[in-house]
Amino acid sequence: MTRLFALMIAFFTSSALFAQDLVVYSGRSEALVAPLFAQFEKETGIKLDVRYNSTASIATQFLTEQKNSPADVIFLQESGYLTVLSEANLLQNIKSELRDQVEENLQDSQGYWLGSSARVRVLAYNTDKVKPEELPKDLSELTAPKWKGQIGWAPSNASMQGHVSALRVLWGEDPTFKWLEGVKANQAVSYQKNGQITNAVGQGELLLGWSNHYYTHQLKKQNPKLAVANYHFPESGKAGNILIISGVGINKHTKNLTDAEKLVNFLVGPYAQNYFANESFEYPTRKGVAANAAVTPLNKIPFATVTQQQLADIEPTVTMLRKLGLL
Ligand SMILES: [Fe+2]
Repeated sequence: MTRLFALMIAFFTSSALFAQDLVVYSGRSEALVAPLFAQFEKETGIKLDVRYNSTASIATQFLTEQKNSPADVIFLQESGYLTVLSEANLLQNIKSELRDQVEENLQDSQGYWLGSSARVRVLAYNTDKVKPEELPKDLSELTAPKWKGQIGWAPSNASMQGHVSALRVLWGEDPTFKWLEGVKANQAVSYQKNGQITNAVGQGELLLGWSNHYYTHQLKKQNPKLAVANYHFPESGKAGNILIISGVGINKHTKNLTDAEKLVNFLVGPYAQNYFANESFEYPTRKGVAANAAVTPLNKIPFATVTQQQLADIEPTVTMLRKLGLL
């Protein structure tokens, strides 16, 4: 009896020692995703150790740590960085049972990451002061005198930097530089965050904001009278409509693959996907989960052709923004 008891003690002690928490590097903000992680812990009993940081910092850290990284799951705001990690041979190929749950165009074609949600770059405009037909047909029109002092943007924000990276691909380095210079000369107003831009537009402080789609919906949920709507450029060739996919990948060297897969399964599962669709107003990536009814369906937006990895080619973009005095 005592021997069995001692064995049991030894067993529980050792399993407690080996039952490591699942380590998540999250580039998505704590305010947004902590409730999801809490739900996952509640559903599965798996404890998470979530380490929040900016997506770019996480990518750099993970590349530095290589196979010594404590991270099991990498959850990033911009999936282009996951491609960088997979090309460094640091990510696990995700099993088809998980991949099959996600729309094909919203996951890595090589199978190293899955989109967890997506967002769209838009022009937010003040609906009291601007008619849709007066809106620019092309981003290049933002340098026109009629928009002088009326445009909000966020040069330090990762989404705007991703969009500028797209412009470098679609337009070329010099035209992008000249355009940024022109918009700056047109007295664009800089903000820290996209949400502040969209709010300023809704309050009538600005006519236009170069922002992300979901802020319009989040802010209007709080204040339905806010005079702001999203505008999508009419043509795909014009570089205005960019899709940014947030994604999740698994460390190739994880010792906790089963639990890591459970977390990925949860993030692309119905609970998390409905949360992204209806709490943050992002686009869900799971097959069969619809976007919120207030949000323009993805298939109605003519997107520019650019890869997620091209959006993550941020260094030359940052250099360009610094040169222009925007950072
Ligand atoms: Fe955001």
